[in-house]
Amino acid sequence: MRNVLATVAGIIAMGTLVAAQGAKVDAGKATFTAQKCTTCHKVGGVGGKLASELDGVGSKLSEAEIRKWLTSPLELEAKLKTKPKMPMSGYLKTHKLTEADIDALTAYMLSLKK
Ligand code: HEC
Repeated sequence: MRNVLATVAGIIAMGTLVAAQGAKVDAGKATFTAQKCTTCHKVGGVGGKLASELDGVGSKLSEAEIRKWLTSPLELEAKLKTKPKMPMSGYLKTHKLTEADIDALTAYMLSLKK
């Protein structure tokens, strides 16, 4: 009986975790639009052409790399072969992201897998 209860509790905990992650992805999607990341990036064919399309970015970059793009874009831009015309670092200076925005955006980016 104890095992059954433990299993049930485990399943409930897992379900809650999946739901929490889903909520974060949704929040990230809303933040992506609210912060106008679409000015430069396309997702699902919607958005600007100034930077790369982000469909599939969740398969390309790790969580740490995505987070870094949102917290220190200048450092990563310095490593690009061609300098962007519209750098993300300049944009993020005037569009401050909160810790919660960064968490949600990272979860959303990671969900964009190809
Ligand atoms: C002013 C234009 C601009 C805006 C606005 C912008 N970015 Fe970027 N972003 C860039 C450029 C330029 C790069 C680096 C070159 C590239 O990937 O095209 C980049 C790179 C990235 C990358 C790495 C992509 C890869 O494939 O390596 C991610 C992730 C990203 N941006 C997310 C975001 C998010 C989330 C927002 C909204 C908070 C945002 N960007 C807003 C211009 C922008």
